[in-house]
Amino acid sequence: MASPQSKIRVAVNGYGVIGKRVADAIALQDDMEVAGVADVETDWRMQAALKRGFKLFAAGADRLNAMRDAGLDVAGSLEDLLAKTDVVVDCTPKKIAAKNVVTYRDRGLKFIVQGGEKHEVTGHSFVAEASYAGAIGRPATRVVSCNTTSIVRTLTALKSVGLLRRARGTLLRRATDPWESHAGGIMNTLVPEAEIPSHQGPDAKTVDPDLDVVTMAVKVPETLAHLHYWVVDLTRKASKDEVLAALRASSRIALIRMKDGLTALNTVKELMADSGRPRDNMYEVALWADMLAVEGDEAFYAYMVDNQAIVIPETIDAIRALTSRETDGAVSIKKTNATLGIGAPFSR
Ligand SMILES: NC(=O)c1ccc[n+]([C@@H]2O[C@H](COP(=O)([O-])OP(=O)(O)OC[C@H]3O[C@@H](n4cnc5c(N)ncnc54)[C@H](O)[C@@H]3O)[C@@H](O)[C@H]2O)c1
Repeated sequence: MASPQSKIRVAVNGYGVIGKRVADAIALQDDMEVAGVADVETDWRMQAALKRGFKLFAAGADRLNAMRDAGLDVAGSLEDLLAKTDVVVDCTPKKIAAKNVVTYRDRGLKFIVQGGEKHEVTGHSFVAEASYAGAIGRPATRVVSCNTTSIVRTLTALKSVGLLRRARGTLLRRATDPWESHAGGIMNTLVPEAEIPSHQGPDAKTVDPDLDVVTMAVKVPETLAHLHYWVVDLTRKASKDEVLAALRASSRIALIRMKDGLTALNTVKELMADSGRPRDNMYEVALWADMLAVEGDEAFYAYMVDNQAIVIPETIDAIRALTSRETDGAVSIKKTNATLGIGAPFSR
């Protein structure tokens, strides 16, 4: 276990879309370090990890030889990595982490799983602005999915000023991630999710059971980000300015404007690239302020979610909460925001 003075040693198991971003973000913190990254692959992605200076470990005895045969400089097995780790962030594909946690528990290691896993895997679901306090000192938590993170962030902002009664949202979900869009995804169609509510609404309630939220979702043929449309019943009549002020109070919601030329997902992504964000990451929920409308006690708005990036700051905060390194969620959020440059590309 890390002493109060030493850096928290973090293992990242699964160096994919989320894992590589988590590793980079950990490396930017002054109170934690990447003990190593583990994976099963042998290709260019692992070379990239080594080039970034991370120690690479093989998850699975059979993978150690395969990775060494592929010419990778592998430091050892996952077990070797876990032996010098305080916290594991499991970023393996859906359902694999649920099996890995047996190993982490046997070793008495604290661990974080991602949104592909069910709430029951850890018994706690994490969004920093809503459930940091409940994660302090726990053995494990689950950083919820990209969509769920955005839902909890926005509804928590409205709830915290007493404006939220209930919320109904339609989610346009990106079909696959850019790096693997040659291998899957959909083209020239839209695919409705078969059930209403879609799983994200109920999932948000694993973070905050008091939320009255229903979601519907459709998969769309693009890879950049998700787009959400929301109708929110407020507790009373309110002005547009009041609703915007509530959303602006969250440091992880960025208010953007159509009139600035941010008229589509690709233009917002381009702003991230031009702002020098690594991998064009957008950690914030980007919500169109000039599109937002309020009629009486109903608010209507739309926002964009960079699915590859939004959970990264949450994961950093979850590491601090589990290890009790920081017991004030607001302090951790501020620190994480500063290291990742959150808010900087946007006018507030
Ligand atoms: N991609 C997203 O937009 C996104 C957003 C939020 C949350 N998540 C969640 O994050 C988790 C990871 O998703 P991802 O998109 O990064 O997946 P990914 O497929 O991009 O990366 C997973 C990595 O784990 C490796 N891996 C596979 N089996 C392994 C094993 N047994 N041991 C160690 N490594 C193994 C793979 O080789 C790959 O490098 C999932 O729970 C997912 O639901 C994904």
